[in-house]
Amino acid sequence: MPLANGFLAPADFDGEYSYDLRVGFCPSCSMVQLTDRVDPGKLFHENYAYYSSTSQGMIRHFQGFAREVQSRCAELKDPIVIEIGCNDGILLRNFARDGIRHLGVEPSKNVAEAARRAGATILEAFFNEETAAQIVETLGPADCVCGANVICHIPDLRGLLRGVRLLLRERGVFIFEEPYLADILEKTAYDQIYDEHVFYFSITSLKRTLEAHSLEIVDVSRQEVHGGSMRFTVARTGALAVQPSVTEMLRQEKALGLEERTTYNRFAERVLASRFDLMSLLTGLKGQGRRMAGYGATSKSTTVTNFCGIGPRLLDYISDTTAGKQGKFTPGTHVPVVPYERFVQDPPDFALLFAWNHAPEIFAKEDRFRKGGGKFIVYVPSVQIV
Ligand code: SAH
Ligand code: TMP
Repeated sequence: MPLANGFLAPADFDGEYSYDLRVGFCPSCSMVQLTDRVDPGKLFHENYAYYSSTSQGMIRHFQGFAREVQSRCAELKDPIVIEIGCNDGILLRNFARDGIRHLGVEPSKNVAEAARRAGATILEAFFNEETAAQIVETLGPADCVCGANVICHIPDLRGLLRGVRLLLRERGVFIFEEPYLADILEKTAYDQIYDEHVFYFSITSLKRTLEAHSLEIVDVSRQEVHGGSMRFTVARTGALAVQPSVTEMLRQEKALGLEERTTYNRFAERVLASRFDLMSLLTGLKGQGRRMAGYGATSKSTTVTNFCGIGPRLLDYISDTTAGKQGKFTPGTHVPVVPYERFVQDPPDFALLFAWNHAPEIFAKEDRFRKGGGKFIVYVPSVQIV
């Protein structure tokens, strides 16, 4: 598999990096994770392709996240909020605007600079135990450590948790949200599996990992974003009351079989069936001379296009609103990535919706495309024309 965000120029096709993408399930602790990892320095750098603020829906979502953090800190005098992996400041800009003391820890220079332009204070670094110690020394302990779609990216989970524990004030909270394993399984959303997503968390597996660091989950809440995420609130063991949501979700996870190997074997079968259905549809349409293009050059799409074999023979182009991806080619399959304007001026008959997690926002925007006879193809939770 090539790098999920490794959009590239033709001059770099030869010698394109690739690695083995495989997921393992641990029958004793129930953790689901990649077995082969890519060096984080190869993934997060001065040219990181993903900008969080490309979706209006996500901007609104993070305003809500900020309100939750602020309500937790409401009683505190001059609280400190630290965000791990703040990207372009989609969350932190809310604290900056309200004059709340904050610091974003972000290793990818280009997005860190965007966050600074949004008014946030940034430490350009990978978060780990050393960075945590450095922050405690300069700023003092944090009332809230937060993160979104980043905790599952960090291979040294134990080092990260040692850092968080060091950083948290006695009654501080660690709030983070990540794609949720049960949603991935229920929706056969296998495209969530790629290099940056090292862990696929459940409450069951995280609870066990946290215990070893004297941390515990005190609250959980499901989120619609990114195809189904879980927001975890974690505190020092015994510091805060554990909400009933935690016991209830643990019970649901048991009923879903998240601790059983057969659950994952069945998922693998559904993934193969999904590939068969999608390729039958696309090759059938192509045979009828229909024009197809991709919508959203997402990191998730790299898994789908490479696993299924969807290249320039099937797709004329993939449109994307991110300037840094435009003019480049998709990792591994080398489909041209074009600006969104091309989609408007030269629409295909069928748009393969790689950004399916933003479907409501995109369908609302693409009324004209659909009224003009254009159709979307989705493959999560099943392959269909909509
Ligand atoms: N929180 C944002 C960004 C998610 S993308 C959102 O939900 O939209 C993941 C981000 O985490 C990237 O910007 C990446 O550079 C950053 N990141 C990766 N490893 C990190 C680490 N060890 N410490 C801090 N940030 C990290
Ligand atoms: P994500 O699924 O990881 O959030 O990535 C979404 C990608 O899709 C990102 O590259 C931006 C792109 N995109 C569009 O091209 N048009 C849109 O309307 C939206 C919401 C996203």
